[in-house]
Amino acid sequence: MINLLIMGKPGAGKGTQSKKLLDHYQLFHISTGNIYREEIKKDSLIGQEAKKYLSEGNLVPDKMTNDIVKNVLRTERYPNGFMLDGYPRTDAQADALDDMLDELGIHLTAVINVEVKDEVLLHRMAGRRVCSNCGQTYHVDYHPSKVDGICDYCGHKLIQREDDLEESVMNRLNIYKEKTKPLLDHYERKGLLMVVDGEQTSDEVFNEIVKRLDE
Ligand code: AP5
Repeated sequence: MINLLIMGKPGAGKGTQSKKLLDHYQLFHISTGNIYREEIKKDSLIGQEAKKYLSEGNLVPDKMTNDIVKNVLRTERYPNGFMLDGYPRTDAQADALDDMLDELGIHLTAVINVEVKDEVLLHRMAGRRVCSNCGQTYHVDYHPSKVDGICDYCGHKLIQREDDLEESVMNRLNIYKEKTKPLLDHYERKGLLMVVDGEQTSDEVFNEIVKRLDE
């Protein structure tokens, strides 16, 4: 069983690498960002509450996020393990996750930190396009769809995420540096941290992660 946590600045490529790793190791994906975007699309109570935070690039309150992850970890099945993407992001979330894993008797295999410089991220987020239906991610330069503006998988329209507009991006980056980056020390102390260079092509990043995990 492989239980992974993937961390990195907004736009570092967490979602892109998660998708490749899920397919490779047959893992269960827990992306708090995707969960919130789905709830917003459904216009559920959680979605209505989360929308206020996501649209401006702020973090959703810890209690709501911890409850969601706790519920998923307790109720879903993940025979080959899971990939946590975008969680934890604060001290309180890291503590809550430690408690949940202790309670369930689960150990993390590794915490992957995808490192990318700010200027690269800004270009990645400005060019990111996502499918309005299935959420598949593209980039206008690095990973364009076959037909401009249309998803290769489901044929729906590609859109820009509301939080990829410049003001939200700067806010997300500042929040990452203040609240999330310090968690890397927490995982380094536990001997779990694996730092990878996220400025390589996405295939190279993936190959490096797999090679190091398989070692
Ligand atoms: P979330 O969805 O987690 O967003 P994020 O951390 O800001 O990360 P992104 O999805 O923006 O980027 P990514 O690293 O996945 O990059 P991607 O692979 O798409 O969270 C969104 C919001 O939800 C938060 O702001 C918050 O409001 C809320 N939220 C979520 N979790 C929460 C929590 N735990 N607590 C509280 N609130 C929470 O790649 C980016 C682009 O670059 C793409 O276009 C891609 O094609 C391209 N690309 C990727 N890799 C490469 C490469 N190697 N070379 C070239 N291009 C690449």
